[in-house]
Amino acid sequence: MKVAPSILSADFANLERDVKLVEGYGADWIHIDAMDGQFVPNLTLGANIVKALRPVTDLTLDCHLMVQNPERFIKDFADAGADYIMVHAEATPHIHRAIQQIKQTNTKAGVVINPGTSVAVIKELLPIVDAILVMTVNPGFGGQVFLEHTLGKVRELDALRKEHDYHYLIEVDGGVNGETAKLCSAAGADVAVAGSYVYNSKDIKAAIESIKEA
Ligand code: DX5
Ligand code: ZN
Repeated sequence: MKVAPSILSADFANLERDVKLVEGYGADWIHIDAMDGQFVPNLTLGANIVKALRPVTDLTLDCHLMVQNPERFIKDFADAGADYIMVHAEATPHIHRAIQQIKQTNTKAGVVINPGTSVAVIKELLPIVDAILVMTVNPGFGGQVFLEHTLGKVRELDALRKEHDYHYLIEVDGGVNGETAKLCSAAGADVAVAGSYVYNSKDIKAAIESIKEA
């Protein structure tokens, strides 16, 4: 699998250092968690962080918008240099329009589903999205325990992709470590986000490798 370290668990006083560190150890993407204190009970990073990081890394910047009505911020993230903009199906009544708006900025468009949301909710989006992010914890915080029931949705999305020849990537986010990464990979995930497991590890290189090899 590809690995996307989440800078939510990095040292905010040394973001450039912590991004370059994981880049040097083979990270594929950098995952940026934007939280608005409303859609989720936490407040974190905005498009200004993407703009600051864009010149310091060549890695794909994967922006996960945990914000109510994400349409308001799509242009800001695209202008800042995002490669993927991922919006929650639960965060707007007009998720299809939000995906269209992302595509109009020439940024890759992804839809995210919470642990309590079924694949059926995003069925109409499957032919048009570049990525689907299956939350494997309830969004809001790093360091939570992986929810195994979400693997059923990864399998379902993988089966639908094969059946209909869809081209989306399947990404998982939350509670990923060397062990749960194997379960995600076996279920059909292509990209795994990992925050605390990577940045809190004594051996960051080994942590990254264990996910890539999963
Ligand atoms: C959770 C965020 C995740 C978080 C993952 O709301 O979307 O990206 O950083 O952290 P870990 O890997 O520690 O569960
Ligand atoms: Zn995330």
